[in-house]
Amino acid sequence: MNQNSLCSMNDLSVDEILSILNDARLFNSSYSDWQLPLKKCLVANLFFEPSTRTHYSFESAELQLGCKVVDFNAETSSVTKGETFFDTIKTFEMVGYDAFVIRHPKTEYFKELEEIQVPILNAGDGAGNHPTQCLLDLLTMQNEFGTLKGLKIVICGDILHSRVAASNKSTLERMGSEVRFCGPEEWERPGYPTMPLDEAVEWADVVMMLRIQRERGATLAHLTKEQYLQRYGLTKERYNRMKKHAIVMHPAPFNRDIEIDSDLVEAPKSRIFEQMANGVLVRKAVLKRAFGFAPFEEK
Ligand code: CP
Repeated sequence: MNQNSLCSMNDLSVDEILSILNDARLFNSSYSDWQLPLKKCLVANLFFEPSTRTHYSFESAELQLGCKVVDFNAETSSVTKGETFFDTIKTFEMVGYDAFVIRHPKTEYFKELEEIQVPILNAGDGAGNHPTQCLLDLLTMQNEFGTLKGLKIVICGDILHSRVAASNKSTLERMGSEVRFCGPEEWERPGYPTMPLDEAVEWADVVMMLRIQRERGATLAHLTKEQYLQRYGLTKERYNRMKKHAIVMHPAPFNRDIEIDSDLVEAPKSRIFEQMANGVLVRKAVLKRAFGFAPFEEK
C-alpha cells in the first residue's frame, strides 16, 4: 500500500494529525488558493455505499486543488457482472488514476487492497473507520476550544455500528481528551466507557449525537421516535443543562426529532454545519498529503 494512504487514524502519529489540522486551518486562510502543482492528478471517487457530505466534500476539495475527478457508479459498472472489489480497484489503478477515495460497507475493506500502489483515502469502511470525519471533528473542536487536551466529550447513540465513534474514541484519547459513551445498552461496545446521558450533558464540553445506523441492522422496534428522543436523544431540556461554553456536534446525516430535537440542529451551541464546512478543509489537507506534499510553512 502507498505510504501516503489514509485508511485509519492509527496510520497517523499525533504530530501528523496536528500537522493535517494545521494545513486544514491554513487552507482556510493564507493558502486558500493553493493548488496541486502537478501535470496530472486524476482522482477516482469510488463510493460503494451512499454518501452526501463525504462524497461531495471530497469532490469539492479535489476540484479546488485542481484535480480532475471521476465518479464511479457501482450500479452501472461490471460489479453487476460479478467483478470483485479488488479487481475493480485494480482496474482503476491500471487505467491511470493517481488517487482513490473509497467508501465500502465492508469493515477494513482496505486490507484486501494491500498490493494497490495508488494512495487510498478511506471515506468510511463498515463499522470500522472514518478518518476524515474524525479529522473534521477534531478541527471543529480545536477551532472552538483551542486544544483537544483535557476536553470532555460524550458520544451518544448507536455506538456499536458507528465508525465515527470508533475513529473518534481512539484518536481523541491519544490527543489527551476524555471520552464517554451513552445510548441503548444493546448498542454499547466493549471497552467503551459509559455514562448516563443526563449526567453526561452536564459533564461534557462536546455532546456528539449519532444517528441509528439502520443500514447496519440497528433497530429498536419497541420504541417510537418520540420515546427514543426522550430516552436517548438530545432534548431541549438536556440542551439547557449543558455547560455554557459546551457545543453540540453530529457527523450527519441527522434524523430530526429522533436523536436530536429538530430545533437544536440550528441552535446557538450547534456546530453541525461548521463540521460540514471543515470537511472540505481537512479533505484538501489529506489529498495534499496523499500526493506527497510536505506540511505548509506558516506565512
Ligand atoms: N458524515 C458522513 O459520513 O456523511 P455522509 O454519509 O453523507 O458522507
